[in-house]
Amino acid sequence: MKIIHLSDLHLVEKSKNSLYGIDPRFRLEMALKSIEKNHSDAEFIAITGDLCDSPSLGIYEMLFNLLSEIKLPVYPILGNHDNREMFLKYFPNFKSGNFVQYSKKIAGSTHIFIDTLVENASFGNLCKDRLAWLESKLNESRDSFVYLYMHHHPISSGMHEMDNDANLKSSVEFWNLLKNYENIKHISFGHLHRIMHSVKQGISLHSTRSTTFQVAYILDDKIEYLTNEENSTYAILDINHDGDVRVHHHEFLNEDRYYLGDY
Ligand SMILES: [Fe+2]
Ligand SMILES: [Fe+2]
Repeated sequence: MKIIHLSDLHLVEKSKNSLYGIDPRFRLEMALKSIEKNHSDAEFIAITGDLCDSPSLGIYEMLFNLLSEIKLPVYPILGNHDNREMFLKYFPNFKSGNFVQYSKKIAGSTHIFIDTLVENASFGNLCKDRLAWLESKLNESRDSFVYLYMHHHPISSGMHEMDNDANLKSSVEFWNLLKNYENIKHISFGHLHRIMHSVKQGISLHSTRSTTFQVAYILDDKIEYLTNEENSTYAILDINHDGDVRVHHHEFLNEDRYYLGDY
């Protein structure tokens, strides 16, 4: 089973069309074109939040129109740059309770999409309501392999600002809940604008880069936050019969530059 993971679109208003000198809409269109060309056999595309850079109804409408042209199912969730109410005007089917959270059963596996957004804050949270919803979904899914999708990183990244000001506040409660389930195989997340892989409690995790701009890996805690020009990626999750995941990251902006023959 193949799943495509996109993250951190940071779309801006049509009239602006630039963020750090990059056109986020063009980048998304390039990613979608690449996915349609190379991965039409995927089960779905997951987009792990920060759909907008600064939310507006016009941007969510633009996103809705762009995604309507895609044949694959697309499952978006929200990040700290998003607005729940505005998103739901164009994507009402992804709501459960007061949050953008849902699950999908696909080919005997369960995919749970989590809402970590705290509006107007960089950090994320899973409040009691959201943890209870997640627990109910995990209880319903004990007979299948489970894959989670979320925006905020549920483990430390080693990057000072991301771990102190922009982290997931309820990560202890989150991991305590996950201890009760041995069938959770993998967690895909965004927010870091970097590729990172880790393992915690026997569960593998990864993030992929933003389709738009990236964040430098800087451990000096005196330096706050630096964007850079590392190439955009999307991730390809290749899941085998045992439910284990191989993650590839694809730089889609220059994918046609193949070198054939002798080297
Ligand atoms: Fe982001
Ligand atoms: Fe974010």
